[in-house]
Amino acid sequence: MELERKDIQGLIVSSYKHLPCAAYLLLQVKDATAARAWLARSVGDFTTAETKHPHFSTNVAFTYNGLKKLGLNQEVLATFSFPFQEGMATEHRSRILGDGNENAPSNWEWGGAQDNLVDLLLLVYARDESVLKAQLEHWQQELRGSGGFGEPRILHAQRQPKNNPEHFGFHDGIGQPVMEGTGNKQRQLARTHHATELPAGEFLLGHANLYGATSDTPVVRPEDDPQQLLTTVPDSATALGARPGMHDLGRNGTYLVFRQLAQDVAKFWNFLDKATCDPNGKSNPSARDHLGAKFVGRRKSGAPLVLSPQQDDPRLDNENNFSYIDKDPQGFACPIGAHIRRSNPRDSLGPDPQAALNTANRHRILRRGRSYGPRLTDPLVDDGKERGLHFICLNSDIERQFEFVQQTWINNPVFGGLYEEVDPLVGNLAKGDALFTVQGEPLRARVHNLSRFVIVKGGSYFFLPSIRTLGYLANL
Ligand code: HEM
Repeated sequence: MELERKDIQGLIVSSYKHLPCAAYLLLQVKDATAARAWLARSVGDFTTAETKHPHFSTNVAFTYNGLKKLGLNQEVLATFSFPFQEGMATEHRSRILGDGNENAPSNWEWGGAQDNLVDLLLLVYARDESVLKAQLEHWQQELRGSGGFGEPRILHAQRQPKNNPEHFGFHDGIGQPVMEGTGNKQRQLARTHHATELPAGEFLLGHANLYGATSDTPVVRPEDDPQQLLTTVPDSATALGARPGMHDLGRNGTYLVFRQLAQDVAKFWNFLDKATCDPNGKSNPSARDHLGAKFVGRRKSGAPLVLSPQQDDPRLDNENNFSYIDKDPQGFACPIGAHIRRSNPRDSLGPDPQAALNTANRHRILRRGRSYGPRLTDPLVDDGKERGLHFICLNSDIERQFEFVQQTWINNPVFGGLYEEVDPLVGNLAKGDALFTVQGEPLRARVHNLSRFVIVKGGSYFFLPSIRTLGYLANL
């Protein structure tokens, strides 16, 4: 299948690994006419999937409020997916996402229920800090000069060189599905020895998805698109609620989920240190690292525990060619509740491994997150500074993909036959004695009194439109 690359924003097909520096600008629309004029001037500056720019790239996304402020009418807004319309921070969605207690939107720094300041997200990526600075100056000048926006909140982020470790120290960004038509399969196979290629409709609106249906897509009436900027939804469109004949506002766009997740690195490693110290109270660094790896499901190097159960094997740092049922059905190597086994259980849930794998693949996301904040020099000694992950993922169906992973796998207390425990890294830990089970022979071990190592600081659901749709929005 040929993708319409010129119409697709670059972030969908690339994580911009060659552009390690990034800044995310959260903007509020103050004047819709001026904001649309800015958009009209800028459409040509947004990076598409057609070319790889060596120095910088920029993409743009909108919240529901943002689209409303730009002037989309209620009839059109109502055709967007329900979670997007509702937003991440409503009570209902908080219940789905497990955003209670410390993670409640009322505590967030942005995107929370009372915060209607986020309308637009500008994602700026650059080769180095000086290019980023220049790009930021350029965009801020444009935005300020347009008179359409308030001052942005700027979130910085970066990709670490060599294996991109997140702040706890684990190699990140290994397990990713491949979108059909991107040509990324060979690259993924060469890097990780594994590639799960999924239909474009899993990550692009208006395309065929895993169900063979056209993924659900927002639309406008043909008469509301007099310049024929958008394509027409074909008669063959089969999604629930598909609207053949209408003009497709979603095609070649997708939904972008953004969560600012602060990581308490010293709390994490001190917890593991205490849980693994010798009977005389002396630290045992290798046991500490081993338990950390059990939480994640991979070693710091990235080596999957399923393939390196006893000790690290750095040659496997990018390895992703494994499944659970053949090598580790009981979780003796990679615990059932480990972060990677929960967030992508592969073939492990259900009696028939192939059927289980097919089912798990209906809930995949394209991760595009990056770390923020300074690295902690000694992971056991806190420096009082905030750091974490700007978690970003792309999916065409927020409910079936991101929210499902978060609710039915990460936060499910009875996941895979477990009882009363959630993901030890990012789960919504129960009050009281929060547990993590390390399956083993002859006996399992249980880690008690886990605390929250990751706290949600902000977040929002965005729509990342196609280039055509950006043109339509600019012309409203
Ligand atoms: C601060 C928060 C988080 C940290 C530190 C973290 C860390 C990691 C690490 C170290 C890996 C293994 C490397 C890899 O396979 O890429 C991983 C994998 C993964 N994580 Fe997270 N993660 C976080 C939040 C989340 C959230 C919120 C989700 C989804 C709701 C998520 C979904 C995934 C998925 C789908 C994988 C790949 C699993 C696989 O295919 O085997 N992560 N994460």
